[in-house]
Amino acid sequence: MTSSQMRAVIAGTGRFLPEKILTNADLEQMVETSNQWIMERTGIKERHIAAENVSASDLAVPAAKEALKKAGMKAEDIELILVGTSTPDMYFPSTACFVQAKLGASKAVAFDILAACSGFVYGLTTANQYIASGMYKNALVIGAEVYSSIIDWEDRTTCVLFGDGAGAVVLKAKEGTAGILSTHIYSDGTKADYLQAPGGGSANRFTQQFLDEKKYRLEMIGNRTFKVAIKMMVEAAQTAMKHNGVEASDIKLVIPHQANKRIIDMVAKQLGLDGSLFYMNIEHVGNTAAASIPIALDEALKEGRAGKGDLILMVAFGGGFTWGSALIRL
Ligand code: COA
Repeated sequence: MTSSQMRAVIAGTGRFLPEKILTNADLEQMVETSNQWIMERTGIKERHIAAENVSASDLAVPAAKEALKKAGMKAEDIELILVGTSTPDMYFPSTACFVQAKLGASKAVAFDILAACSGFVYGLTTANQYIASGMYKNALVIGAEVYSSIIDWEDRTTCVLFGDGAGAVVLKAKEGTAGILSTHIYSDGTKADYLQAPGGGSANRFTQQFLDEKKYRLEMIGNRTFKVAIKMMVEAAQTAMKHNGVEASDIKLVIPHQANKRIIDMVAKQLGLDGSLFYMNIEHVGNTAAASIPIALDEALKEGRAGKGDLILMVAFGGGFTWGSALIRL
């Protein structure tokens, strides 16, 4: 790669979390669990929950507006909108089309990326290809989720984990050394049943029996997912570093998918990286799936955890299975 290469540079970030907060104490009233169990096993203290009439695009729009403002761009100038979501407004039109309409981004091509919790890193990868090829000069990449809409609130093994929210990033084409250096994405569909929301698709139509069995809800084999997540996140992070000839000491900040504090701690340990390099906001937001990385990125940048010229490593894992990493110079 030469310094004159066209790269996708992060020009602005934004996030939006719904107002309502569901605490572990609230969950203690709903299922047989305890604050101590949730904190010890996941690191989650509270999560934001969208009102019943709020959709993924409703959360995406304020996050996108904030990112556009930060980038000094108007919605009308955006050429590509990608929304990573596994809780879309509806099957179709895509959530990205709803976001386009609500923003008034009339020039943009808009489509969704379905890769569960890896949706943002997949989206970043896709946008990067369009920008590097010269097809588009900018892109709005969003992660937006309303997992509360697919959670079984009587299932203690999943309902304590997830939260709602959205994060957005504006990418701009720019020549130079800053921007996305590389992304690395992977899939393994043989383990689909470890983490899935089978409801209502063409394989599982909405019959009365299906509804009675609550098959429209998220299902997860937590402990198996846990082990694979650590292995794949470590491998994806190592690949990004090796590909770019980067040492651990070169990295200013790691933004991992916020699935579980113990997963993040173990990924840090296995990579031989100082845990303090890993940004964590899971305590207050829980697992927001595709929204998790852009929410954390926006928080971290606003806290001044990284600045111009710094290297950021993102690493994600999700249902599919899907996983991946991105190395970015701010
Ligand atoms: N409160 C209290 N007890 C709970 C509980 C809860 N909310 N959820 C599960 N338990 C119980 C289980 O029923 C089980 O009880 P048993 O031993 O009597 O059968 C016990 O705790 C241990 O369950 P297990 O699933 O083995 O716990 P764990 O240490 O693996 O932690 C997760 C569970 C879900 C926190 C953990 O597996 C995890 O984080 N997995 C990855 C999830 C994830 O990240 N998914 C998204 C990927 S993007």
